[in-house]
Amino acid sequence: MSGGWFGPMRQALEEAEKGRYGASPNPMVGAVLLSHEGEVVSVGAHLRCGGPHAEVAALAGGAGKTVGGTIVVTLEPCVPSPNKRTPPCVDAIIAAGISRVVIGTRDPSPAMNGRGVDALKTAGVEVIEGVEEEACRTLNRRFFYWVATSRPYVTLKMAMTLDGKLAARGGRSRWITSEASRREGYALREEYDALLVGVNTVLADDPRLLRHLGLNPNPRLTRVVLDTSLRTPCDCALLEKYPEDVVVFCLEGSPAGRRRELERRGVTVVEVGDDQRGRCDLRQVLRRLASNGTSSVLVEGGGEVHWSFLREGLAHRVHAFVAPLVLGGREATPSVGGPGFASPQEAVRLHFVDVRRLEGDLVIQAEVQGV
Ligand SMILES: NC(=O)c1ccc[n+]([C@@H]2O[C@H](COP(=O)([O-])OP(=O)(O)OC[C@H]3O[C@@H](n4cnc5c(N)ncnc54)[C@H](OP(=O)(O)O)[C@@H]3O)[C@@H](O)[C@H]2O)c1
Repeated sequence: MSGGWFGPMRQALEEAEKGRYGASPNPMVGAVLLSHEGEVVSVGAHLRCGGPHAEVAALAGGAGKTVGGTIVVTLEPCVPSPNKRTPPCVDAIIAAGISRVVIGTRDPSPAMNGRGVDALKTAGVEVIEGVEEEACRTLNRRFFYWVATSRPYVTLKMAMTLDGKLAARGGRSRWITSEASRREGYALREEYDALLVGVNTVLADDPRLLRHLGLNPNPRLTRVVLDTSLRTPCDCALLEKYPEDVVVFCLEGSPAGRRRELERRGVTVVEVGDDQRGRCDLRQVLRRLASNGTSSVLVEGGGEVHWSFLREGLAHRVHAFVAPLVLGGREATPSVGGPGFASPQEAVRLHFVDVRRLEGDLVIQAEVQGV
């Protein structure tokens, strides 16, 4: 039954990709409008949060040819909700005289889930569900995870040597990987709602953690530092631009004077509980970020922070750039620090999803198993 809709749904998925940099924290959505005769009339995508939804964009492009037509959409169309910034798509579909809606997957948000389908059926519109469902869910894996758990989806980005070092003895890390790898790393920043580092990385590298490529229509993003006792300097590069986008997490009882200095610079300082090892409790950190609309976090080091996320089962993906260099040295920063596990049986297991060469480096993407 759903076989005939495979082609238009693949096209809708391609459209949805156009929202990769701008849609978040909304999901990426694509739509294809077919005339009553089955010809593709127009396509649409949800390009940026707050902008028109994919269905509305497709309907606008097909004015005059919508009556009796079919709209193929990767995600269930939305119904009215108090928090929505845009008019409901279900109303627009019904008003346009569409007779059939083909849906990839239901919207998991509690305010939506199944309501779009019900409203369409009540209005006499035929609904076909589950076409290319797996691909439609995978496309928005971060959004689905965020909605289901109230925690952001987390990717660890590592630029390392062949022997797994993030920095040389003494802490210098610029530059380990090629320019092309660094550019791909910058492109990742455009896809995530927040960047996160440990305070040692702030102290060693003095990063700005900004978006440089202009792919995301929003140049600003949340920048997070895990800083147990507020060692982040007020004159660090991170605070030069948009200090009000910076959130520093520390432990309860951190020096009040340091806190006031950072807050005077516009920084948000948030106290969280201890993770039983004297550092910031990551579950509390992630919940707090999620409640402010952060659906995904790109963790950019260093090794101690990578270890904490992996040990706690809070990292979902690793995007590693591996340079053909060996730094050696017991003192050099490992890509994953901490005390480590006592046996291979306890190790965090990953699954390689993509391995390729990039200007002399290797780029490895892996998914963490069982999270
Ligand atoms: N090549 C790369 O891609 C790359 C990227 C980033 C960094 N680096 C390099 O990595 C080095 C820094 O890495 P690092 O491993 O030493 O430190 P890090 O991971 O940058 O920072 C670790 C510190 O963050 C604080 N923290 C608070 N809560 C934490 C938690 N839940 N888990 C872990 N840390 C928490 C702790 O500060 P307290 O000690 O005050 O408790 C901890 O010591 C630098 O040399 C930098 O150049 C390289």
